Amino acid sequence: MEEIFTPQISTLEISYILASVLFILGLKKLSHPDTARNGNLWAAAGMLLAILCTILFHKKEDQNIGNIPWILAALAIGTAIGWIAARKVKMTAMPQMVSMFNGMGGACAALISMMEFPRMQTAIAGHASNMLNGEALAILLGLTIGGVSFAGSMIAFGKLDERIGDIKSPVLRYINLMFLFVLLAFMVFIMFKVPVANENWMIYVLGGLALIYGVTFVMPIGGADMPVVISLLNSFTGVAAACGGFLYHNQAMLTGGILVGSSGTILTILMCKAMNRSLLNVIIGAFGGSSAASIQSGDKTVKEITLSDAAVLLSYSQKVLIVPGYGLAVAQAQHLCHEMDVLLTSKNVEVKYGIHPVAGRMPGHMNVLLAEADVPYEKLLEMEEANNEMQNTDVVIVIGANDVVNPAAEDDPSSPIAGMPVIRVWEAKNVIVMKRSMAKGYAAIDNMLFFHPRTRMLFGDAKASMQKLIAEIKNL
Ligand code: TAP
Repeated sequence: MEEIFTPQISTLEISYILASVLFILGLKKLSHPDTARNGNLWAAAGMLLAILCTILFHKKEDQNIGNIPWILAALAIGTAIGWIAARKVKMTAMPQMVSMFNGMGGACAALISMMEFPRMQTAIAGHASNMLNGEALAILLGLTIGGVSFAGSMIAFGKLDERIGDIKSPVLRYINLMFLFVLLAFMVFIMFKVPVANENWMIYVLGGLALIYGVTFVMPIGGADMPVVISLLNSFTGVAAACGGFLYHNQAMLTGGILVGSSGTILTILMCKAMNRSLLNVIIGAFGGSSAASIQSGDKTVKEITLSDAAVLLSYSQKVLIVPGYGLAVAQAQHLCHEMDVLLTSKNVEVKYGIHPVAGRMPGHMNVLLAEADVPYEKLLEMEEANNEMQNTDVVIVIGANDVVNPAAEDDPSSPIAGMPVIRVWEAKNVIVMKRSMAKGYAAIDNMLFFHPRTRMLFGDAKASMQKLIAEIKNL
């Protein structure tokens, strides 16, 4: 349909371009902790601008947008749910929230396609042609990818929230492949075989198949691999939204979708690289064994350190490196970590943090935690920098980290984490490991660091241990 160029339409288009620029600048700002908060606001302002201008200026056949009260009510409900969820969510439950929000994005893209399919069919039937054109492809892809993303994200949410268990059956992988094949074949069938209207059942069947595939795709993947899967599903949602943008000639939606799609893909690749695993390895769930605790390892023994000895060792050191991991997030000990850092710094000890790219359970997990506790960004060393300084470090305190400091990655070629870059804490003069037990980490493998001659264990919940350690340091 030809759109008439009116001042309103040009205002709308300018607002979409502005919104796109705000998305891009916002994303750029997200790449540094100092500007990240602002970046989020900029991107949100872009979204607000796009929504408001669509409501005010969008015209179809010279008619303004209708159903304004319904739109505003939906916006108010969505905003309230999002605001409350974001305020209430615990740091450790962040991946679940991202998964839920991502699923909603996928569902929106799929619903848009469902709404547009009959209209498109009627238009095509009028020209007695078939569905083989760009817009029809965008509709079918939007529905398929959005549906997979929605169903997959819901399963990912359930797994992360421990409501759904892992089903690692090889049979499921074949069923999964079969569904993918049926889904793609049905999409091609619709593209070539729908010259007439009143064939709406097809879109419902396609939507249903996409939902089933979303479930069978995520179901066999290990629950602990979910952060990578969520990032992948996030990129799916972006592509589905971009299809909607293409369909409506909406630049803001197109740019937003492309940005989400590409950043999700880049993040998925980076996460896989940092774990030294291929995406296929993540998807077929070949990582780790049982996560039961095991304390014995041949004739090796574990040495423990008392709180007072740890306090003395730290206070009389010159260089201390803190290596945080998932346990820091579980214990919520980040504020105490900073308090100990300030205390030691006042005693002329140089304190820095060694950050592994996949420490924790989501990208940037440790950076966000430490920023929340006001740890200056300059104190955070990336893995390579930390490793370069290791031999000159007097004490490393490992707080709730396990896999990211496991020497097996370098020493044991048969280990599931062989080749994964790790922080070589065992090269420091002394290592204190704070954790509650000898339990394994995410990869469910033993860690010989705990038996290393330079390592001493400080067992207990990281928050409780930190509180006591700080008290001991203050008493010196
Ligand atoms: P993990 O290897 O998972 O180890 C965490 C350790 O924290 C556990 O061994 C646990 O031992 C301890 N812990 C838990 N709660 C604690 C508490 N309250 N107080 C003290 N300690 C506590 O963590 P990591 O070293 O950070 O490694 C992250 C893993 O997740 C890697 O294998 C990585 O590949 C994987 N992963 C990360 C990501 C991203 S993007 N970050 C994505 C997917 C997978 P206890 O039970 O004995 O206390």
